Amino acid sequence: MQVRICLLLLFISSCNYTVIKEEMRPFKVSEALLNSVSFNQVKIEVFNNKCISCHGNSGNVNLESHRAAYQHLENIRRSTLIKKTMPKSPYPALNRRELEVLSAWIEAGGPDKPLNGSDEPEIEDEAIQPTYASIKKNVIDMKCISCHRPGGEADRIPLNTREDLLDPTYEIVVPHDPDFSGLMIVIEPGARKFMPPTDSGISPVTEEEKNAIRTWIENGAL
Ligand code: HEC
Ligand code: HEC
Repeated sequence: MQVRICLLLLFISSCNYTVIKEEMRPFKVSEALLNSVSFNQVKIEVFNNKCISCHGNSGNVNLESHRAAYQHLENIRRSTLIKKTMPKSPYPALNRRELEVLSAWIEAGGPDKPLNGSDEPEIEDEAIQPTYASIKKNVIDMKCISCHRPGGEADRIPLNTREDLLDPTYEIVVPHDPDFSGLMIVIEPGARKFMPPTDSGISPVTEEEKNAIRTWIENGAL
């Protein structure tokens, strides 16, 4: 009798244990990834897409550099893998690949360079360029599109394509004339309708990004 209860307890507790382990580790991370993952990879595949616009250099939780992000390793684990409170709306949840890379990095102990000592390919963060493709990727898709897309809360003013931006109805982009372009006006502090809205939690357009947008419009918004 005693033995049976014991076995039963053992069974229940091992069951629980598995459940918790599974929860912490949403799926199996390969040894190869565990050994090769680096901060740079996490930054480019996860943080830049889903976190940086709210956790850049300015805030409490800074995910720009290894030194800064590493201090928050435990909180990053809790908020992304356990409680899943991050990323926050309007950003969509982490996809499978992002979860895999982030889980591997956290399980590896948050290393800067790969544990296996391999030379990681230098993946440089691409600086913003005064081109439509770069502005779309770095600003519009990151800071605007979640609301300004079909079905979004500001779908009245779509910002999906270059044609949307150049549509004369709204004067979002007036080629050669940045000061009359809605896109420039709304991103300046003090704008009547400041974008992205302050209460969205999305970080403002940076000076570097503004300069690229201004140059692109001055050059004819091609
Ligand atoms: C839309 C904005 C936004 C995005 C995107 C976002 N966060 Fe946050 N995050 C916040 C805000 C605001 C707080 C502080 C208030 C709070 O805890 O709700 C916060 C708090 C945190 C904290 C500290 C508090 C805690 O919960 O432990 C961590 C760690 C964190 N975020 C990590 C991340 C990571 C990692 C991502 C990307 C996968 C991410 N966040 C994406 C807005 C955001
Ligand atoms: C969190 C949602 C949200 C985000 C993110 C957002 N907007 Fe908006 N935007 C709105 C809403 C809501 C309106 C008002 C729509 C209306 O009047 O129907 C608006 C209005 C505008 C307008 C028209 C302003 C006017 O004077 O009527 C422009 C231009 C604009 N947004 C550009 C942007 C740009 C550029 C970004 C990114 C840098 C951005 N928005 C990010 C919600 C958002």
